[in-house]
Amino acid sequence: MITLGIEGTAHTLGVGVVDSERKVLSNVIDMYRPPQGGLHPREAANHHAEVVAGDIEKAVSDAGISLKDVDLVAFSMGPGLGPCLRVAGTAARALALSLDVPIIGVNHCISHIEIGNAMTGCTDPCLLYASGGNTQVIAYSDSRYRIFGETQDVGIGNMLDKLGRDLGLGFYAGPTIEKLALDGDKLLDLPYSVKGMDIAFSGILTAAMAYKEKGCRLEDICFSVQETAFSMLTEVTERAMAHVGKSEVLLGGGVAQNGRLREMVGEMAKERGGRMFVPDRQFCRDNGAMIAWLGNLMYSSGVRMDVGDTEVRQRFRTDEVSVTWRK
Ligand code: ATP
Ligand code: FE2
Repeated sequence: MITLGIEGTAHTLGVGVVDSERKVLSNVIDMYRPPQGGLHPREAANHHAEVVAGDIEKAVSDAGISLKDVDLVAFSMGPGLGPCLRVAGTAARALALSLDVPIIGVNHCISHIEIGNAMTGCTDPCLLYASGGNTQVIAYSDSRYRIFGETQDVGIGNMLDKLGRDLGLGFYAGPTIEKLALDGDKLLDLPYSVKGMDIAFSGILTAAMAYKEKGCRLEDICFSVQETAFSMLTEVTERAMAHVGKSEVLLGGGVAQNGRLREMVGEMAKERGGRMFVPDRQFCRDNGAMIAWLGNLMYSSGVRMDVGDTEVRQRFRTDEVSVTWRK
């Protein structure tokens, strides 16, 4: 069964193709970068609407198949930005109807988990899902992916991007912050905000900006933000692992591309006698292959949807989905 997946929860329009043996045949990633300022949902949606048809064609051609070989269309039903989700949803419905094949709407967060599981070979991990819009510690238990801890305000990536904007580093600032942090050596005091199993990032942002006003070096600010925010993530992840008795930890989401985060979580896992797993970069960030992958898993486990069931859901939670494909 050939599955084509369309991702469109936020800045990235992605189209991926997965075959019957669940091999990724193609993964076209088309990210919208605003000319200035932050991400405006409608502008990102306009970008997605402009590129989606071409990206579908490219994904099909990269996969070495033709459109009529597609047996199933999957798309990211949520969570995400309404206008962006609607573009991906509309494209998926139009494609499924025109090809007369079934359609499956998937939970974007769970697709990060499943592609990570599949690509790294871990078996039963605690997932630290750290992206722009989402920051959650998740583990499987009793037919659900359950959230053990999460951000109470913004996702860590959004915090980094906002900081980058305020520091004049441009949009999608995670990689730039990571580079600057390498030359930082002074640990500035920032609010370490862990409440129970939950975390919050907005205090770090405010305090970091105050350091900028005081003339502190950007390198030290970026270094301190990373050290503080990533320690918070590592602490909560470690507690979740201890609580559920799992020794594997899987990283997912765009921020999982960060070397320092990997180092900290990796060390923590090792100290616990466990192991960290990180999928290839193209599968950490938002992409269509992970959507196709989960669509394929769900369909194979018997899930069916009518077009009428595929309305997008901006606040679609990870723990709402009954995990029918895992025993
Ligand atoms: P989601 O819809 O799952 O919330 P997203 O829309 O944020 O995902 P992703 O591609 O998963 O998309 O993640 C993008 C985020 O990852 C951005 O906030 C970006 O700054 C951050 N990021 C990317 N590379 C790095 C890095 N090397 N270090 C830190 N953050 C990074
Ligand atoms: Fe994502």
